[in-house]
Amino acid sequence: MAMQRPSAEPAISVIDLHKSFDGKEVLRGLDLDIDRGESLAVVGGSGAGKTVFLKHLIGLLPPDEGNVVVDGVDITLASPGVALELRKRFGMSFQEGALFDSMTVFDNIAFPIRRHTDRNREEVAERVGECLRLVRLNGVETKFPAELSGGMRRRVGFARAIALEPEILLFDEPTTGLDPINTAAIANVINHMRSELEVTAVTITHDMSLAFRIADRIAMIRRGTIIALETPERFRVHPDPYVQAFLKGEVPADEEEAL
Ligand SMILES: Nc1ncnc2c1ncn2[C@@H]1O[C@H](COP(=O)(O)OP(=O)(O)OP(=O)(O)O)[C@@H](O)[C@H]1O
Ligand SMILES: [Mg+2]
Repeated sequence: MAMQRPSAEPAISVIDLHKSFDGKEVLRGLDLDIDRGESLAVVGGSGAGKTVFLKHLIGLLPPDEGNVVVDGVDITLASPGVALELRKRFGMSFQEGALFDSMTVFDNIAFPIRRHTDRNREEVAERVGECLRLVRLNGVETKFPAELSGGMRRRVGFARAIALEPEILLFDEPTTGLDPINTAAIANVINHMRSELEVTAVTITHDMSLAFRIADRIAMIRRGTIIALETPERFRVHPDPYVQAFLKGEVPADEEEAL
């Protein structure tokens, strides 16, 4: 995918972010600018703080220190009303899918549209149809989540995330538990949505095959900071030993003792 590095201010600036839980430091002064229109993959080990980081972007967690500036507005300092407005610019697909099990696919995707817009029945149905086309699903409107495969559920989650036409898409582990073919299909869907919607996309994953397929840049989180931020080509040859161990699926030398 072509690099998009516009000169405008970043879509999101994360500045010196700190967060601890019960005295355990998870984020330790994390800095990162996310460019408008780019697809950024954020990778790192289990428990590295990827989901915690993502929740800060959308104001779902308050930092202990630091700032998150979305389109020039600091979400950490915003009033609840302003934070809510900022949050509407995001479409988020959570790690566990988080569909409503008792609702059909149609109602799951219609839910945010009915809640946040005054579209009539026909318009809601039209938008649900558009969203399903964007994630390349059809004929599943009347099914319940339990009747779908994992990969299909993920795509329904994406369809719901884009229902309100967000400017920024956040995906948390969109391919966990999927086979390589479904992983490739999800990568295609993310790339397709990006080319159709001109959004900024941040995808959290520990699946490097996904990261290489979808990213303009790859950021690696380790020990609460970003230790590498590169294009996929440069990421592959990054000199950091942890990055190389992660790419090769090896235990890094400095972690063997801890294991
Ligand atoms: N609400 C919370 N209260 C206490 N600790 C938390 C909370 N949320 C996250 N943590 C801790 O923060 C650390 C990072 O968690 P996080 O969920 O961000 O990891 P992750 O990088 O997303 O991992 P995975 O790849 O397994 O999803 C973990 O040690 C976790 O236990
Ligand atoms: Mg996580």
